[in-house]
Amino acid sequence: MRELTAEQIQKNYDTLINTIQLYVTGDRKDKVLKMYNDMKDRFMMAPASSKEHYHNAIYGGYVDHILRVVDLSLKIKELWGENGCKIDFTDEELVFSAIHHDLGKVGDLENDYYIPQDNEWRRKNMGEIFTFNTKCEYMSVTDRAFFLLQHYNISISQKEFIGIRLTDGMYEEANKSYYVAYKSEFQLRSVIQYVLHQADMMAAQIENRLTKDSIEKEETEVYERIQNIQQVVGNEEKIKDENPKITKDLFEELFGEKR
Ligand SMILES: [Fe+2]
Repeated sequence: MRELTAEQIQKNYDTLINTIQLYVTGDRKDKVLKMYNDMKDRFMMAPASSKEHYHNAIYGGYVDHILRVVDLSLKIKELWGENGCKIDFTDEELVFSAIHHDLGKVGDLENDYYIPQDNEWRRKNMGEIFTFNTKCEYMSVTDRAFFLLQHYNISISQKEFIGIRLTDGMYEEANKSYYVAYKSEFQLRSVIQYVLHQADMMAAQIENRLTKDSIEKEETEVYERIQNIQQVVGNEEKIKDENPKITKDLFEELFGEKR
């Protein structure tokens, strides 16, 4: 299955910190950096989801997802602008919201939100690579994001609040009253949440497909190796006489070591 190397995880984390340095301004920048520094290891290693068939259920998957959402948000914002939509939020508001829309997935102040699933049956049959850490008191991911931000005394603008609150779009039932307006004055005024939702959905779908592709590739490779072994075993006697090297290769294929 798709994995990130230690170097990729470190590089992604450095890129995230550089992105914060670049986009977050004012006296909240130091507070944001402190939060990341306090929980550095947890930020670096956190997955973005629990199940293989969701998205980025891998170590380092959280930051990898966040970087993809930041990148796509900026591109999607351009697309809205090029098509005549007035962009009424700053790049700082957009990037800050993209960076923190899933913050609650890192966990609470002390505990990871996702921990490895140690039930082998559930790993195998349900694709649960990680499970929820019961040490964390229940909160929605978005609520925990706001809890962590306020804990570090990080102020947010109204657009950032709306953006983070509504990034999940209508996938989150609690968002319905924001997205379905029965009165014109209740309609969402900015498009920031649409940009974030599109970027988040696109990132998750891409990550899901990257994982699926890697699993398919592995399955194909295993299948081909089995076929090769079956073919060679079927012709073993013949091959032994004609080409002893193939028998040696077969041994290595089966036992994975050279003699
Ligand atoms: Fe997300």
